[in-house]
Amino acid sequence: MKTVVITGSARGLGLEMAKVFKKNNFNVVISDLALDKLENAKNILSNIKSDSEVLSTICNVTYQEDIDNLIELVNKTFGRIDIWINNAGVNQPNKAIWELSKEEIDMIIDVDLKGSIVASKLVMNYMLKQGYGAIYNVEGYGSNDAMMLGLSLYGTSKRAITYFTDSLAKEIATKNLNIIVGKLSPGIMITDFITNALGNKEKIVLDEKTKKVYNILGDYPDVIASYLVDKIINNTKNGVRINWLTNRKAFYRFLTSGFNKRNFFK
Ligand SMILES: NC(=O)c1ccc[n+]([C@@H]2O[C@H](COP(=O)([O-])OP(=O)(O)OC[C@H]3O[C@@H](n4cnc5c(N)ncnc54)[C@H](O)[C@@H]3O)[C@@H](O)[C@H]2O)c1
Repeated sequence: MKTVVITGSARGLGLEMAKVFKKNNFNVVISDLALDKLENAKNILSNIKSDSEVLSTICNVTYQEDIDNLIELVNKTFGRIDIWINNAGVNQPNKAIWELSKEEIDMIIDVDLKGSIVASKLVMNYMLKQGYGAIYNVEGYGSNDAMMLGLSLYGTSKRAITYFTDSLAKEIATKNLNIIVGKLSPGIMITDFITNALGNKEKIVLDEKTKKVYNILGDYPDVIASYLVDKIINNTKNGVRINWLTNRKAFYRFLTSGFNKRNFFK
């Protein structure tokens, strides 16, 4: 039975993707920072009927040792890693670059960028021995060079994630390996992420203009997870970008926004 590992999967997109993989008979490994939240997520997943199993464990992606332990535990339990998704992420407090503390800068870069880089490296080594596998990294605001006050460090990380994943795909292609990597672009998701910075350390207050845009372009993560996971399961190509909010979709959403009565912030 195939196995998927998702980082930062006790809630949000990670948990929603785990649900879809479970429905598709994958053994699902969820990992995150807090045991109680993981237990809750595991219970939700265990209620989904399928022949596969759920494993949950603590993994802080800023610690190499945690990622090593996660890989070892999955190997011991299921003997294989078919798909690994670097999903863990933190949002940035709504501050200009010069207002961020060194600790805040470290946390954003460590989780949003270095976490995915180090995990990709370690999982690549596992998959090289295994002889196959797929790794996906999650893009975000800034991946396409967009810039906005208050998202500079997050955008720096996500822009780099895009470059990093493309580079890894190129290296894999150059060496003709039987491994694929890809990017997941989830658009705007109505999750705790959009109103919480640095995990849950700081609240983000959304202004009315931002809420309006989110009401037009945003979606709940279950809808986006269904789309992404279906594409992931069927993908065999290295270097793909699986994109939920295409330009065409965004254009259509703005065009029909007069009829759109969605309000995620009631
Ligand atoms: N919400 C959005 O609008 C949006 C848009 C584009 C991309 N993304 C990206 O999608 C991914 C998931 O976002 P989400 O909206 O589901 O967020 P979320 O906050 O709901 O979930 C993120 C999870 O990551 C975990 N996490 C944080 N730091 C961690 C660490 N050091 N080690 C392990 N886990 C850690 C959190 O505990 C949380 O469970 C993130 O990479 C985010 O940057 C989000």
